Amino acid sequence: MNTPNSTNTYPHAPGFVAGERPRIVTSRFEHADSYTLERYLATDGYAGLRAALGRPANEVHDEVKNATVLGRGGAGFPAGTKWGLTPQGVFPRYLVVNGDESEPGTYKDRLLMERDPHQLIEGCLIACYAAGLSQCFLYIRGEMALAQERVATALNEAYAAGYVGKNILGSKFSLDIVLHWGAGAYVVGEETALIESLEGNRGMPRLKPPYFPAAIGLYGQPTIVNNVETLANLPWLMRNGAEAYTAIGTKTSPGTRMVAVSGHVKRPGVYEIINGVTTFRDLIYNEEYCGGIRNGNKLMAFVPGGGSAPWFTEDQLDVPFEGPQAGAAGSMLGSGAVMVMDETTDIPAAALTLTRFYAHESCGKCTPCREGGTWLERILSRIVDGKGTDADLAQLVEVGTSICPGDFPHASSKRLGLDAVPFPYKMNTICFVGPSAYAPINSALVLFPEEFAARVTKRTMIPVTAVGAAS
Ligand SMILES: Cc1cc2nc3c(=O)[nH]c(=O)nc-3n(C[C@H](O)[C@H](O)[C@H](O)COP(=O)(O)O)c2cc1C
Ligand code: SF4
Repeated sequence: MNTPNSTNTYPHAPGFVAGERPRIVTSRFEHADSYTLERYLATDGYAGLRAALGRPANEVHDEVKNATVLGRGGAGFPAGTKWGLTPQGVFPRYLVVNGDESEPGTYKDRLLMERDPHQLIEGCLIACYAAGLSQCFLYIRGEMALAQERVATALNEAYAAGYVGKNILGSKFSLDIVLHWGAGAYVVGEETALIESLEGNRGMPRLKPPYFPAAIGLYGQPTIVNNVETLANLPWLMRNGAEAYTAIGTKTSPGTRMVAVSGHVKRPGVYEIINGVTTFRDLIYNEEYCGGIRNGNKLMAFVPGGGSAPWFTEDQLDVPFEGPQAGAAGSMLGSGAVMVMDETTDIPAAALTLTRFYAHESCGKCTPCREGGTWLERILSRIVDGKGTDADLAQLVEVGTSICPGDFPHASSKRLGLDAVPFPYKMNTICFVGPSAYAPINSALVLFPEEFAARVTKRTMIPVTAVGAAS
């Protein structure tokens, strides 16, 4: 199905032909050598840094604030505002780049690091200059071998060419960028766990408060943690200015964002969509993106923002990629991963796949997540295998709501006698991994109770008197 296309009416912004889809962070992707310094320099590379260094740092910071560059790591917090949260006069202070990207369905940062590593490096330089950060640590997920290789090579090139190191481009600004390879743990994407890992400790989240990284971060110093895509926006922004950036998208969600689509669409992949304008319907059905559901099947449900996001159905297709609007519809845009399920999907099994991931990735620091995730996985496995009972269903909810308690009964569900956990989740855990183990079950149970009811057998209680009589 093709639908009226909001993406055909792109706002005109400098650098774009009206009607052409703006590309801020993926503009070099079609070049086979997009990752080389040569290609980067031939396509405006390091011009943003040059422009930034020609201005006072506070002006550069203001430009980022005026552009409202929203964080692309999940929470959507504006980068310029975050940079201003570090305490005055405390040095050294660090930039930590979150390249741990492990959320199910999410694979946009990997492409940015593999295909345009210099863009990320330039973004780090601009951020450190603007926010007065003394050193940058670039943390890349353990399994991303090609990304590590490309970023390492690009860093060596950038050092050799004088873009990184002492007195960059002949200015007074100097910066070292340290590359760190993770060992492969999902929870290390959480910023305080990432800092622990960088310090050489087990990657377990810290308690907030007091460990807000801007105040107490890496080695106890003020630290800004930013996502790869967030920083990759900065070179374009510095070349074109905040006005051009905010001319794309909407007032509250300017610019573009990368969305990774997987599942039952004709053309899964990573697309740079327009913030606040492109809708889920555009993304899933339009020919310029995914081109519709495979084999002409019907859509059953989709996960709008990474494995922990509450699921949407056809009713939410017209929600645009705009954080508050996705929130009002009961979910989130999260890490920019959309997973599409068509009518052939085994819904309890799909929920199990996600729950198994989060149960496996629990770091074990808090009991509801460590024990609850495993319980959820075991009970749901029993149900998927056709060995579950209706008591198992009730227990799923009981365990789930002990991880993320809610104000029950919640309006969004009374079907099957089960209550939906309201979103955003409250949690009895230190970080979001615990609730994430229950999130897919909650969505699946609330939206498709019949899929579960058909799988379980009713447990009939044998009256005590009958037991007595039989013996
Ligand atoms: C369990 C968990 C996993 C996360 N994984 C990532 C990740 O892989 N990459 C990322 O940038 N942010 C991730 N985040 C969010 C980070 O904690 C942090 O908010 C983000 O890196 C900040 O960058 P931004 O402001 O540029 O978005 C995760 C958060 C949680 C709770
Ligand atoms: S919620 Fe899970 S992953 Fe997060 S700190 Fe607790 S045990 Fe670790």
